[in-house]
Amino acid sequence: MTVCQSAATAVASVGLALALATAGSPAAAQGDIIGQAEFRRQCAVCHGMDGMGQGPLAALLSVDPGDLTQLAIQNKGRFPTERIYRTIDGRYEVQAHGTRVMPVWGDRYRKEAENIEGLEGVPKVRERIVAGRILELVFYLQSIQVDE
Ligand code: HEC
Repeated sequence: MTVCQSAATAVASVGLALALATAGSPAAAQGDIIGQAEFRRQCAVCHGMDGMGQGPLAALLSVDPGDLTQLAIQNKGRFPTERIYRTIDGRYEVQAHGTRVMPVWGDRYRKEAENIEGLEGVPKVRERIVAGRILELVFYLQSIQVDE
């Protein structure tokens, strides 16, 4: 493995390890900040800056984006981490009904990761970058859950 390759692997691994290490802990601040910036940039247009569903595009959607601060309450007080991860990723979702209104972020992040040069030959590094970006959003959403 070249220096460049191991550096790339290290960066991806550290990102994922950080994301996992901060899961569910009150000290998740670092991960939350990254996720918050991405949420404001990509998601707030529909979900609103506070995640409560009042983004400027929301009224034009055929489906209500819902209130993302209520995900834990709607799931008997437990934040549904895996379901939220899969919903954001969207690549493996089987739609129960209708078509998905929400963009498939897994595809978008994967395309962006394809454009990063110098990762050739590093196994699964692009998928790890995608996973890290989705996890950052999951942890951010976890951090904005209301208690009741
Ligand atoms: C174009 C508008 C739009 C954008 C942009 C968008 N969403 Fe959504 N989102 C929706 C809609 C509408 C739903 C309701 C389910 C559906 O029909 O797709 C939804 C559903 C969700 C859900 C599931 C909520 C539940 O009750 O299960 C999550 C989590 C979510 N979005 C997160 C995100 C994140 C994170 C981003 C940014 C990376 C994002 N959304 C960007 C429109 C959007």
